[in-house]
Order: sequence, then structure tokens, then C-alpha cells
Amino acid sequence: MCGIVCYKGNLNARNVIVEGLERLEYRGYDSAGISLIKDGKLSTVKKSGKVKVLKDELEKNPIEGNLGIGHIRWATHGGPSDINSHPHLSNDGKIAVVHNGIIENYNELKEGLKKEGYTFKSDTDTEVVAVLIEKYYDGDLLEAVKKARLDLRGSYALGIISENEDDRLIVLREESPLVLGLTESGILAASDLPSIIKYTKDVIYLDNGDLVDINGDKYTIYNRDNEEIEREISKVTFSFEDATKEGYDHFMIKEINEQPRAIADTIKYKMHEGDIDFGENAFTKEEIEGFNKIYMVACGTAYNAGIVGAYAFEKFAKIPVITDIASEFRYNDPFIDKNSLIILPSQSGETADTLAALRLAREKGAKTLVLTNVVASSLDREADKTIYCYAGPEIAVASTKAYTTQIISLYMLALDFAKKLGTISEDEYKNILEEIKAIPEKVKEILNNIEDIKKYAQEIKDFESMFYLGRGLDYSSVIEGALKLKEVSYIHSEAFAAGELKHGTIALIEEGTPVVTVATQSNIIEKTISNVKEVISRGANIFAICTPDDHLEEISNYAYILPKTIDALYPVLAVIPQQLLAYYTSNAKGIDVDKPRNLAKSVTVE
Ligand code: F6R
Repeated sequence: MCGIVCYKGNLNARNVIVEGLERLEYRGYDSAGISLIKDGKLSTVKKSGKVKVLKDELEKNPIEGNLGIGHIRWATHGGPSDINSHPHLSNDGKIAVVHNGIIENYNELKEGLKKEGYTFKSDTDTEVVAVLIEKYYDGDLLEAVKKARLDLRGSYALGIISENEDDRLIVLREESPLVLGLTESGILAASDLPSIIKYTKDVIYLDNGDLVDINGDKYTIYNRDNEEIEREISKVTFSFEDATKEGYDHFMIKEINEQPRAIADTIKYKMHEGDIDFGENAFTKEEIEGFNKIYMVACGTAYNAGIVGAYAFEKFAKIPVITDIASEFRYNDPFIDKNSLIILPSQSGETADTLAALRLAREKGAKTLVLTNVVASSLDREADKTIYCYAGPEIAVASTKAYTTQIISLYMLALDFAKKLGTISEDEYKNILEEIKAIPEKVKEILNNIEDIKKYAQEIKDFESMFYLGRGLDYSSVIEGALKLKEVSYIHSEAFAAGELKHGTIALIEEGTPVVTVATQSNIIEKTISNVKEVISRGANIFAICTPDDHLEEISNYAYILPKTIDALYPVLAVIPQQLLAYYTSNAKGIDVDKPRNLAKSVTVE
């Protein structure tokens, strides 16, 4: 759960790497560091804290070079501290290493190296890699790295330089992401595209086991068997501006506002000649008929999108769906076989638990379909089929546009299944598809109506806890709303199936307790309204997100009336005011909304 940026070329490597690290801060921000080589001399500066702290330190302690490696850390082995920050050095101080991932056998390796007389300064798994390369070094860094990697077990994206060979950068990956950027003024290697796309659109997505030797102005790629290989050069389709804030105060609000475009793209790229078409990733009628159940498996917000999507498969395609959290699924010996389809939504495509769930599903012979926002991510590479969200890079830690685009993607997939299975009438199919196409405009409308949300945010900001209520699909929607609020505002917020409240939790409602309710599902609207009245009579301060027909404005403190759509699609609209409420509450409390404490954007460790 870290990020690396490495550069070798004619530019000032310090600037390229530090800027690259700033663009990767969504991957962790416990510490940052950089090593550069100039005139055969290796210098390192590393500090606990965000990249800003590193930048300040570099002002006081400037180091230079055209070759370097940088790192931002989200602590796993060894707490956040200067000493545990990367880069880590070999005992002779000549080799520097940055690492994203976990070396699982580092303790065993460390003990062995200690017996041979090597010493260690940090508590990290990474220092072992630097020392191991030193042990194998016999005048050729590439050979030493090749030997060292045979001893490593676990996951890594590594960047390595040595002052013994000051014209060489070596990077390699196993399980952790790593992309090469080919520019006219040198080569970049980074954990993700935002640090690269300012300089180039020509990138190489490295495969597991790839090692790249950048020596002089040439690069050579070797696979796990150390055979020289070619990898395809891809063109990045989104711009540098897409990965930056574009004038918004924060990435989160930028990404919330991007949803009309993101949803429109999601729809557009799944259509051909006016109809849904998943191209080579479509399942055939025969394949779909072979599925006797679907598992929807994911983590966090992606899981919350999955529970809404599950509804669409049951409702339209009449296939039973079991939703499960990936960290549970992977250890629960799930009852799946070749007739099961496992759908795994994941914004990053790198979430460790989701990846483990996918591998388990494949081991058991089930078919796997990944729904991700990141092309060539680990999940994408390992799944039988992949559907992309096309939300564009999501930088804010709190997921927003990935959620809505995941729901839309799942609905379109469910409709495709339903049409092929004949479980939906042509009219109903067309009607739902038309309603889906109209969603981006309706989201725009919601985004233009934020005054009451800001006022409510001011009213709730000092509360320690609050509640979210809904029934049916509205319950799925408030689960996401409550998660969003708690992660960025630190207010304890809990979602309840509205009918369940009176079985215990209603005891917590008192004068002024904030309660958000989503009430959009026509078949149960009366029931939800009764539950809302129950909490109002105990003093709750209600923010109701509802439809024009509910008349909740007559009893609520605030009523946010959504544009009209069909019941099935209300979760996509109802989440937008909930995302905005989370954002403005966080702002009102002065929290760093894009980087809430203790969280990182992609959770690549268990
Ligand atoms: C919450 C959030 C997380 C992620 C979860 C899964 O706002 O972003 O709950 O949804 O960590 O991540 P992905 O979708 O990358 O698998």
C-alpha cells in the first residue's frame, strides 16, 4: 500500500519524482522519500509525513541528479517513522531500494542475513531487499537483482539504483502494479499513471514477473524466467488534467461533479448501434443459461455497488445472487462450481481481498467477471472477462464516481443477461435502457441544487453519531451514504433497514439526532414514511431524500426531492446528495477530505 516513482533521463529527477509522488498520495501518506545519484554519489532524503514534508526537507537539504527513485508509504511492516521510510539502503550505503508490496518471508531472510554479518536499521521488510542485492553484488547490478528476486516471496514493485552503476535503473514487479512511461527525455516507472501522464501518453503495463533494466538510454525487459521479451506500448486515453483537480478545491468534489460525464461514458462504451453490447466480454446465451447462481464479491464501496447490482440480476434476469464481502468469501469455502458466475467489482482492480476471492473462484472452476476502472490492473488481467467502468482516475480516497458507474455497468449487464434469457419483455428492456440513458442529465440537475445539503452539513458537523434509514433498494443506498459520511467526516454513522430500527436502535434517537432517510421505492414508501414518523416523534432532525410523490417535505426538517426515474434506478440518484453531504460535512469540520486518516486508496494488502 505504497507508491513508487523512478526516473532516469535528462530532466531534473528530483522534480519529476517529487511531483510524481504528489500525484500518488492517494496510495498512502505516512512518509515520503527519494534517492538520487549524481556524479557517482548516492544521496537520500526521507521523512515521515506527507510529500509536502519531504519537499520542505529538500529545500533545506537539496540533492540533485538525473537518476532516482522515490516512494510514498502507507505503513504495513514497521510504524510510520523517518527510519522506516523508503528508500532503504544496503549496509555499504551504495544500493537504494523503493518498494510497494509485502515481502512475506522477510523475517526468515533477515535472520539469515544477520548470521552472515549484515545489520538492519529499520523494522521494514524492504530493507532486506537492499541488503540481499548487496550480498549478491559482484560487479553487475542486474545479475545481483536477478539472484535476489529468486529469494523473495510476496508482492512487490521495486525500484533499485546503485552508485556503483550510476547510469542504471532497475525496476521489477510481482503482484504490485508498475507502469513504464516512455518519454523523449527519459524513462519513468511508477505505480500508477497520474505520475506519468504529464510527460507521456506512451506507456507499458508491465506483467507479473517483469524486470526492466534501464541502462544508458536503452531499456530491456526480462520475464520471470529471465528471457528478454517485448511488451506492447499502449496509448493512455485520458489526459493529465483528468488526473488533477481542474480548479476544484478537492478531488472528491471534482469526482462527484464528474459523474454525469463518467456515467455517460460508461453507458456509451457499452452500446453499439443503440443497444447494449459488451463485445468480446459478453457472455453468450448458452453460457448465461449455464449459470445457476451469481456471487457478487467485493470490498467497501464496490461491495455496496454490488448489493444494488445484485438486485438488478434477480429482478431482470431472474438469477439468484449471493452478495459477499471479499475478505469473508475468501475464507468461507463458498459453495461454488463451474456453474457459478462470480462478479467482482473493484475500482482499483488491485484490492488484495478481491484478488484472493477471484483466485479462489477460479480454483473452484467458477467463471469470473471483473468490473473495474483500471485497465490492466491485476484483477483485470486474471479474470475470465472484464468490464470497465470508464469513470477516469479516481484520486480521492472516498470512492464516488466509481460507485455510480459500477451500478450502471451492473444494470446494463443484468439487462443483457435478461434479454438473452428472455426474462424481460422487449418493452420493459427498452424502457429501462432509455431511463439509464437519461441518468447523466438527472445527476447534473442534482449537482446544481446543493444549498440545503450545505446547511444540513453545518447542523450535523458537531454530532458524534447519526443514522441512515431506508428499505429495499433505499437500504442499499443508505449503506453507501453512511460509509461515505463516516470515512470523510469521522462522524459515526450507521445505516439501518428502516423496519429494523424499532428492534433496538431506536433507543439511541433523542432530541436533535440527525437522521438521513432515503425514500424512493414506491412499493414500500408508506412503510418507510411510518418509520420516519417514529423517529421524528422522538426528536430526530430529518434530512429526507425522496421523490416528488412522497410528500416527505411536509414532515421533514429538510426534503431533497430527486428528479423522477424508475424505482430500480433511484440508488444512482439518491447517492449523489449523500456524497455531497459527506463532502460538505468534512469540509465544515476542516478535515483533509481527500485523504482521511487511516485510509488509503487502494488496499493491496490483506
Ligand atoms: C470507500 C472506498 C473503499 C473501496 C474499497 C474497495 O470510499 O473507496 O471502501 O471501495 O477499498 O476498493 P476497490 O474498489 O478499489 O476494490
